[in-house]
Amino acid sequence: MPGTYIRLNYFPPIFAALLVVFSSTLNAESKWLELCDDCHGPNGNSLHDSIPTIAALSKNYFVESMNSFKRGERVTRIHKRPGAMDTDMTMVVSMLSDYEIIELAKWYSSQIRDSKAQSFDSEKAKTGRRLHMKYCEICHEDSGRSIEDDIGILPGQQKEYLRLSLQDIASGQRISSKKMKKTLNRMERKYGSDAFDHLLHYYASLIK
Ligand code: HEC
Ligand code: HEC
Repeated sequence: MPGTYIRLNYFPPIFAALLVVFSSTLNAESKWLELCDDCHGPNGNSLHDSIPTIAALSKNYFVESMNSFKRGERVTRIHKRPGAMDTDMTMVVSMLSDYEIIELAKWYSSQIRDSKAQSFDSEKAKTGRRLHMKYCEICHEDSGRSIEDDIGILPGQQKEYLRLSLQDIASGQRISSKKMKKTLNRMERKYGSDAFDHLLHYYASLIK
């Protein structure tokens, strides 16, 4: 069911143990980690199709994303979690100080990315690769892996999350780089809306 989150019913002891080990290096952000990981998955590696993996994002991109939620420039969607209050990122960021956001960015940017294999169609992935090289590689270098320019990571990112992000950016509902919006609109005019789908298959195909 879209928008519904299946809660992890237990907090694996190994994570609890790791938290204790790392607590000396964790400061303001530590009290939030359980809440974040409840949606974003263990150490920020998502297990839910429409929730992004946030492990290993660039620190600046992380902070900028959190601030754009604060400014209301990014679309957010409520995720229902059984036994917990319905929450979205707007509510989450409203509870965090600037200092905590920076500490959380440091923590998640240093986590290892553990992308799960997702299904893909090889023909669509091939077309997606051509589209990526033509329209996206100029900014999303190394097939979208590079975080050098403080942008998100595309290979292995959750497919449904990517699909929603592309739609939101193309429609202007998510305020983004003007050039990127123009690029998406140009690509859509030329190749139709299937182009997005092909790109998603390509990014999924990069994780085996
Ligand atoms: C109720 C579920 C939920 C909780 C709790 C939650 N998030 Fe999110 N987060 C999301 C969703 C879903 C998105 C994608 C935007 C949307 O659809 O709202 C997102 C997006 C993000 C992004 C942007 C990622 C990108 O690639 O642009 C960051 C960063 C983030 N969350 C960090 C956090 C942190 C840090 C916490 C804990 C303080 C947290 N989130 C708690 C659901 C959650
Ligand atoms: C002119 C540079 C530029 C081009 C071209 C560009 N992008 Fe982006 N893209 C960005 C920047 C900068 C961001 C991050 C900040 C933002 O949201 O504006 C971004 C963000 C994204 C995001 C959101 C990532 C996340 O984690 O939420 C996706 C998805 C994305 N781009 C896909 C693409 C695809 C697919 C193409 C090619 C069709 C493309 N971009 C072309 C600059 C670009």
